[in-house]
Amino acid sequence: MTTKKRNLFVTTALPYANGAFHMGHIMEYIQADIWVRHERMCGNAVHFVGADDAHGAPIMIAAQKKGITPQQFVAEIAAGRKEYLDGFHIEFDHWHCTDSPENTELSQDIYKRLKAAGLIYTKEIEQFYDTAKGMFLADRFIKGTCPKCGAEDQYGDSCEKCGAVYSPTELIDPKSALSGTTPVMKTSTHYFFKLSDPKAVQFLKEWTVGNGADGLPRVQSEVLAKDEEWLAEGNLNDWDISRDAPYFGIEIPDAPGKYFYVWLDAPIGYLASFKGYCAKKGLDFEAELTREDTEQIHFIGKDIIYFHTLFWPAMLHFAGKPFRVPDHVNVHGFMTVNGAKMSKSRGTGISPLDYLKLGMNAEWLRYYLAAKLNSCVEDVDFTKTAFEARVNSDLIGKYVNIASRAAGFIFKRFEGRVSDEAMKDAVIETLREAAPEIQDAYEKREYARAVRRIMELADVVNEFVDREKPWELAKDAARAADLQRVASVALEGFRLLTLYLKPVLPATAKRVEAFLNCGELMWDSVATPLSSANPINKYEHLMGRVDRVKQLDALLPEVAPEAPASQPKAEKPAKPAKAAAPAKNVDPDAPGGQKIADVCTIDDFVKVDLRVARIVKCEEVEGSDKLLRLELDLAEGRTRQVFSGIKAWYKPEDLVGRLVVMIANLAPRKMRFGVSEGMVLAASNAADKNAVYLIEPFEGAQPGMRLS
Ligand code: MSP
Ligand code: ZN
Repeated sequence: MTTKKRNLFVTTALPYANGAFHMGHIMEYIQADIWVRHERMCGNAVHFVGADDAHGAPIMIAAQKKGITPQQFVAEIAAGRKEYLDGFHIEFDHWHCTDSPENTELSQDIYKRLKAAGLIYTKEIEQFYDTAKGMFLADRFIKGTCPKCGAEDQYGDSCEKCGAVYSPTELIDPKSALSGTTPVMKTSTHYFFKLSDPKAVQFLKEWTVGNGADGLPRVQSEVLAKDEEWLAEGNLNDWDISRDAPYFGIEIPDAPGKYFYVWLDAPIGYLASFKGYCAKKGLDFEAELTREDTEQIHFIGKDIIYFHTLFWPAMLHFAGKPFRVPDHVNVHGFMTVNGAKMSKSRGTGISPLDYLKLGMNAEWLRYYLAAKLNSCVEDVDFTKTAFEARVNSDLIGKYVNIASRAAGFIFKRFEGRVSDEAMKDAVIETLREAAPEIQDAYEKREYARAVRRIMELADVVNEFVDREKPWELAKDAARAADLQRVASVALEGFRLLTLYLKPVLPATAKRVEAFLNCGELMWDSVATPLSSANPINKYEHLMGRVDRVKQLDALLPEVAPEAPASQPKAEKPAKPAKAAAPAKNVDPDAPGGQKIADVCTIDDFVKVDLRVARIVKCEEVEGSDKLLRLELDLAEGRTRQVFSGIKAWYKPEDLVGRLVVMIANLAPRKMRFGVSEGMVLAASNAADKNAVYLIEPFEGAQPGMRLS
């Protein structure tokens, strides 16, 4: 690590102010926030700013529909932001808006400089015009029949049915999506930014392959590969930066009735926010930008690479001082749910506010994402099973448990004092030595690597505790010194693990700092162990486990089960297909290709109440290609509803009247389609999930009978 302190200007993409945050936004902010916190722990100065991206036709139209001004519309959205940011411990220093005096001034200034540099020109273009609304129509406000496949009701730029890309003028029978009238062609003067200018191309070819002030490549290799394709001979188009009134945006100087296209003023919003922040902090904006030790770093998603690695650096470069080109544009992939794009309509979206309202700990999500994020442009998948495992096994089982195991002994038996001698233990040394490696992983946004290493270290501490058995030492008064040593090592281990996890778990780290009485944990406090001079305080419960049913199932009602039914559909009813290559985790030597589970006692078994049930009704579930809805009679004087992921193997009409076995005392589970009050049993092979068989009792069994 360099010892020279850095002055970091860090941003995340400015969210469109037309809706609340979704989990994708939160993921981006968490990624950036972890990095920012790590840098602060290094002692670097960080200015971390965001803003709402307010301008553009969609917001203008949405506001019109609500009968309010676009400014009011945006203000309403902005007012809701804090709840999310605070809720997930995302600590922006400042939040601004692109519809602000700072942004107007900066955008007009940058435009004038680009014009002076000879990079702006005008051209007449023909565009669809809605005479009823008196406005030119953006591509997405024109609908018509696809010229390629004939699908009706397609947008002006591409067909959702066949995927063809075309210009709106090619649409058959085009209609304005705003008024329903047939638009007419009308010419208008548009302003262009000359990205194809040889000096712009030359600059971008250099910028994209260059390094930031930290000596690392400005962009990731995947991003560079895209840029190189875009920059290849003749591929670069000039950029249409103007829109005609009426438009919610910033006026172009000396061009009455013309506004900047939203994507011109949006990134300038980074600077506007920084300027607003400087004013708030009493800093000199221009001086901050031009400081030699300042670095400008943007975090964005993979869908907006073109804007951020071509237009944006070119704008900044040709505008000149005090503006500076970005040191890094850090690109992340998308967050997906069960491997699919998040979608509200398909019920695969996760609402960040629902997450919080269910009492789910924000740091669980931060930890989960950290454990998955790296410096590549890869999507990050959310599944309930993985989330549960990360939180309950790693975070609670490995990390939090260390504190609860060790703190009591020190607090109760030794007046809160650790053994100073114990701080030289080899276990602690092992943990300390890992610091540079973990720091390096954070620095490079290799959070998954950092977390993996930290959990290995937690294993080291837990193995130490298991080996030394402090609970046995505690029974023998003669071994008090040993007990103090062991608990002290464990507690110092816990302090180091907390330090290492602090960028990810800021709230927990704060509470640990208070309970360990160890001061603010920074990277350079690795070498300052706990001391008998500062007795620890009483341990307070730090973090609970995630509840699969009450929290995860409620957050993400079952749509596509991750287990058997997520396999490709088989013909039904399935003949056991020839097993393909055995799947992972399949033990070929075990019955059914799956290891026998750990021993359970009869007491464990009787907890599960298995009953014979008759299927009295069975139907497909609208909107689900996996589930059948069963109505089951257990002779309770009512029927129960159970959703079962067996649609691929059974037809509803074949099931009605038959007997099955069900778990009758399983906690009811809320699914997207309703509550499921149990589970029917079916058999399958680990290696061949395409064959699933319901379990049917021998003849004579009656509904309601218990299995034992
Ligand atoms: N307003 C523009 C950005 C202007 S920046 C000068 C915009 N807004 S957005 O709200 O659509 O997206 C904001 C950020 O969220 C982008 O970086 C985008 O890539 C990111 N994400 C949108 N969906 C996402 C996921 N599903 N997962 C992760 N990030 C996602 O684009
Ligand atoms: Zn089509």
